[in-house]
Amino acid sequence: SRKKEMATVLSQEMLAEGIFSLWLETSAAAEAKPGQFLSIYTNDGTKLLPRPISICEIDKEKGALRMVYRVTGEKTGTKQFSELKAGDQIPVIGPMGNGFPLEEAKGKKTFLMGGGIGVPPILELAREVDCAEKQIVVGYRDAHTFLKEEFEQNGKLYIATEDGSVGTKGNVMDAIREQALDAEVIFACGPMTMLRAIKAYAEENGILCYISLEERMACGIGACLGCVCKTKEVDAHSNVHNKRVCKDGPVFLSTEVEI
Ligand code: FES
Repeated sequence: SRKKEMATVLSQEMLAEGIFSLWLETSAAAEAKPGQFLSIYTNDGTKLLPRPISICEIDKEKGALRMVYRVTGEKTGTKQFSELKAGDQIPVIGPMGNGFPLEEAKGKKTFLMGGGIGVPPILELAREVDCAEKQIVVGYRDAHTFLKEEFEQNGKLYIATEDGSVGTKGNVMDAIREQALDAEVIFACGPMTMLRAIKAYAEENGILCYISLEERMACGIGACLGCVCKTKEVDAHSNVHNKRVCKDGPVFLSTEVEI
């Protein structure tokens, strides 16, 4: 298994209220794939377990990863991460998790769907996936549509906002309906309510769909068991096999998990 190492902060900026972009120099960049995450520890030891943060961009030449994350409150690990400056060091483990199976999209019309803090991992996915029609559908709360320019450079972009200030009013499913879009393959990341709607839509329409359940993770290293989810797998004794999102995922075939 992977070892904890010190990553060096290259830069940090605030993209929107409470949303930060952190570039880290780390050997984890060498093997990283879209949909994987990095587990980041706090420096002061007040939190024993790390926080899993999804990878937004991979720069193999520089050996660097871009992490875009939301600060979840005062006195949280993410609040501490947001105070890091260029040159600071921070302990990390990664890359963790399985990532999206890019080969499944080859030659297919594809939706890359992200909502809320599930938006950032869609960027590296959009940069790397080789598919027939790359339709990026992302949902935000309001006009703070972070990463918008980068998405526009990497596919056809459709935006939904909860308050209707940009694009379709509503969520990513509303955007698909309003624009009458369709696809043969879906890769999605976001809150559970959004993933549930996408899973149902994919199953009704017979679309191959992979969802990242990263929202369900707490420590990201297999130590807390806070991420267990039910699967459809049943063994010879009719026991249902549960899976740990951080170890067996975070990306699953939608039909394989109950959410
Ligand atoms: Fe802690 Fe999976 S997130 S065990």
